[in-house]
Amino acid sequence: MKNFINIADLSSNDLMSILEEAKKRKIKRKGFNKSAPDDDKPFEGKSMAMIFEKPSTRTRMSFDIAVKQLGGSTIILNPDGIHYGKGDETLKDTAKILTEYVDIVMLRTSEHKNLEEFGKHLEIPIINGLSDQSHPCQIMSDIMTFEEIKGPIKEKTISWIGDGNNNMSNSLIEAAGKFNFNLKIGCPKKYSPDKRILKWAKKNKVNLLVTHKPELAVAESDCIMTDKWVSMNDKVNKKLKKKNLKNYQVNKRLMSLAKLDAIFMHCLPVGRGEEVTDEVIDGNKSVVWTQALNRIHAQKSIINWCLGLG
Ligand code: CP
Ligand code: NVA
Repeated sequence: MKNFINIADLSSNDLMSILEEAKKRKIKRKGFNKSAPDDDKPFEGKSMAMIFEKPSTRTRMSFDIAVKQLGGSTIILNPDGIHYGKGDETLKDTAKILTEYVDIVMLRTSEHKNLEEFGKHLEIPIINGLSDQSHPCQIMSDIMTFEEIKGPIKEKTISWIGDGNNNMSNSLIEAAGKFNFNLKIGCPKKYSPDKRILKWAKKNKVNLLVTHKPELAVAESDCIMTDKWVSMNDKVNKKLKKKNLKNYQVNKRLMSLAKLDAIFMHCLPVGRGEEVTDEVIDGNKSVVWTQALNRIHAQKSIINWCLGLG
């Protein structure tokens, strides 16, 4: 059974073929209505259950539309409205029920271990729709977007500016290893990637630079990425964290230090005027709306990969 929990769990070949299928399917359905099914409907008669422990706009909607385009249906569950490892039912029993009812599960969780634990009890695949540790579906969509605009990401330079120790930066480091691109992280020392992911990067020979100088991180870059300074899961002094990250704002000056044709990415939701200025996110280098759209296409292929469809 194939789960999609972390980018590091998959081979480079599998990751690349997921994106190739996503690109092909996207082209093939040009001109279709937004929720019309693909011609082959590989997920027809099947369904996905989605559990959201935390808020979501893009993940919720893009998975729902992805499943419709594959010809299937979704059930969205609120953990407060079901017996989800609490009350008089164990997580194991809830997992057993989902196994009986649906074909695949997507979970957005505050605690990564919930994905692993739930996954252990399920007899159907589970997809990580964001945890405190990783956000692999978003990074797959981001790589697809980069490649659509700029060609193969292999050996290109991507810069990550701001909080260097969150779910997005972790998945990006794993992707740098799997897709073989150069990654430069510009962040304050206090928000540097954690030791575990740095160890993985070293072991997997990731071409990674971690610097506290944002200017150095964006030099020669093909793409500058950032994320909210305070993530949904962050139990920090928000005011202090934002103050510490003030010099890491992606603005016109920082963008001008990258390659002339560099693009700007953000997974959204965005803290306008904090990690990025309106001028950059609304400017002509920004591809944030395409990233959001491609969540649908990348996730269709992730579902197909998990179930051996497509
Ligand atoms: N980028 C992303 O995952 O957005 P949501 O939190 O809205 O799902
Ligand atoms: N790092 C952000 C990503 C949101 C999609 C968060 O976890 O809130």
